[in-house]
Amino acid sequence: VDGATWDVVASVVQLHARREGRPDRFAMLGLEWELMEGVFAPVYTATTELYTRWIPYPDGGAFLEVGCGAGVTAVVAALRGCRAVTALDISAAAVENTRRNMAAHGVRNRVRVLRSDMFESLGPDARFDVIFWNSNYAHVPTSFVYETELQHAFFDAGYRSHAAYLREGRSRLTAGGRLLLGFSSIGDRALLDRLAAQSGLRVALLRREAVTSPAPIDCQLLELLPALGPAAPGDDGGGSAA
Ligand SMILES: C[S@@+](CC[C@H](N)C(=O)[O-])C[C@H]1O[C@@H](n2cnc3c(N)ncnc32)[C@H](O)[C@@H]1O
Repeated sequence: VDGATWDVVASVVQLHARREGRPDRFAMLGLEWELMEGVFAPVYTATTELYTRWIPYPDGGAFLEVGCGAGVTAVVAALRGCRAVTALDISAAAVENTRRNMAAHGVRNRVRVLRSDMFESLGPDARFDVIFWNSNYAHVPTSFVYETELQHAFFDAGYRSHAAYLREGRSRLTAGGRLLLGFSSIGDRALLDRLAAQSGLRVALLRREAVTSPAPIDCQLLELLPALGPAAPGDDGGGSAA
């Protein structure tokens, strides 16, 4: 990340690292949530709430949240009518936090939570109608050494996890399923586009909103779609709507 972007990320990380004033409960989307130590705090940035409002949940369908953190999006998906919700996180604290919020909101029968590096803990046949990840979009060098689990919420060394999400995500979808990514202006969009192209995908913008607190960030809900093939002879280039 460049200097200015680094300052923005550093201010958000600093908020998370502060013990003092960090709430162990918070209200969001009309509900009360528990927040455990070491877990991404949805109260410090607007992203969790925005993406959770924007996601087109599959009514009666299967929803996968990668990187569930405290579990807000996964629980809301179950409350909004998803039949089966799977929530994954690389962080053990996030897995436990999501379990507690599932139990508190009475959706234990519809949500399962697994500790997983990307899709690794899923069975080979697991498929979903919508897959979503509010990602750790700050790109740091491959040599970056994670000192805490919480750092996985912000930094993706070498964009290894983004590459895996793009490589495997669409193969985990049902026919007509949708692969979504919560991204922002902090992320490395040029690299994301290159990784998408390597996986035969293109990146489309579904929604965006500029927020100013705790720093100016353009929040974006992206969709990963199959790359457009080469234009057929006689194609007028108009194409069809996504
Ligand atoms: C920006 S936080 C979002 C948390 C939560 N979804 C929310 O919106 O509040 C990103 C989450 O992705 C998780 N994560 C990062 N890399 C991961 C990986 N390789 N596999 C699974 N989860 C990962 C982090 O632990 C973190 O909980």
